[in-house]
Amino acid sequence: MNNQIRNIKGTKDILLQETLVWQFIESQVHLFFKQYGFEEIRTPAFENTNLFIRSIGEQTDIVSKEMYSWIDQGGNKLTLKPEVTASVARAYIQHNLGKKFSINKLYYIDSLFRRERPQKGRYRQFKQFGIEVVGSSFPEQDAEVISLAYNFYKFLGIKDLRLKINSIGSKESRSLYKDALYKYLLPYKNKLSTLSQKRLKTNPLRILDTKIDFEIEILNQAPHILDYINKEDREHFDLVLNLLDSLKIKYIIDHKLVRGLDYYCKTVFEIQNNKLGSQDALCGGGRYDYLIEELGGKPAPAIGFAAGIERLILALDLNDEKFIQSPDVYIISLGEQAIQHSLVIAESLRKNQNLIVITEMLRRSLKAQIKDANRLNAEYVIIIGEDELKNQEVIIKNMNKGEQIAIPFDKINSYFVK
Ligand code: HAM
Repeated sequence: MNNQIRNIKGTKDILLQETLVWQFIESQVHLFFKQYGFEEIRTPAFENTNLFIRSIGEQTDIVSKEMYSWIDQGGNKLTLKPEVTASVARAYIQHNLGKKFSINKLYYIDSLFRRERPQKGRYRQFKQFGIEVVGSSFPEQDAEVISLAYNFYKFLGIKDLRLKINSIGSKESRSLYKDALYKYLLPYKNKLSTLSQKRLKTNPLRILDTKIDFEIEILNQAPHILDYINKEDREHFDLVLNLLDSLKIKYIIDHKLVRGLDYYCKTVFEIQNNKLGSQDALCGGGRYDYLIEELGGKPAPAIGFAAGIERLILALDLNDEKFIQSPDVYIISLGEQAIQHSLVIAESLRKNQNLIVITEMLRRSLKAQIKDANRLNAEYVIIIGEDELKNQEVIIKNMNKGEQIAIPFDKINSYFVK
């Protein structure tokens, strides 16, 4: 019997070279988002279950079937965060951030949990980076949020970005549209999949997300939500589009884009990339002007987006040299005395020259150590053997050029001064 414990389905270990990609992305998020004036917020891994029911919505896929929820020993109903927006809204209200600053521009990098069916680009534990801006209701804020997301992907060298955008207007217009869509779909009811038939009753807007060909065909003639939104919301949307035009950001108005979380209003958007297969959304977001008030805070308009890091990695070119970390120096040492010297030299090169230095820890043969230095693609090899110890020097070999030179112990540092 094999009783080895393995990771849980839908989770993954990030190993070796791949961690460099993660570190790179996370460090770029910090640098890039700060350029727009955002500050980091970190919220707890789990929250009161009611927070998500009240914000994301009871009928949504996330709340109705994907949350990891439990009752703890104290009888508290808790849930591992399936997304960050609700937690940020809670923290904003709880810490009175609206009173401290008229506008709060927050960003995060966080692990989330949803019990979805795992597939390429879809996991049960995944990581998002994202932003939430609370305070501004103006279209320039929508444009800034969308352009930050778009420009970040461009900055990382991702091509084939497709920005899809729509406006779902106010709550009232969404409810009018819901009725219109329901009326339109009702005659087709028996042709719809079982899932869509269920959604027709609970939340017909979700049918717009369908990937089934014949349902897509039926939806082609469906009413557009943009025809149901009021004049003010239409003007807001047109101004957002104008600003994107002036920023030279191309977009597609997608009448079927309504997003799967209940808190949205007005502008909603997604950025897609075709390297991702069926889970093609790199990120998604939109306005949620009512959420803070609905959670008991003073009314405050808000907008944000979140982006999956696993999906971003699928879209990246991993052969890029910024994802490869080779040592600058590999010190080959033969014998106990040489090992002692290698440790001292390595410390000095790390401290004084900022180099990545590897020393031998397995007391292997010269041949085996050279092989290892080659495997790691070290730029330089320093060799300390018996002869070198006698002469108080080392051999330094430039592995790219194949040249080597003997250098006295006390001149090693200066050899590496750039
Ligand atoms: P969301 O569309 O549920 O929105 O998720 C945003 C992004 O997270 C997706 O576009 C995708 O890249 C990634 N993602 C979602 N689920 C998974 C999964 N199971 N596996 C891997 N990646 C996944 C939200 O979460 C909203 N809170 C976004 C937002 C922020 N709206 C306003 N502010």
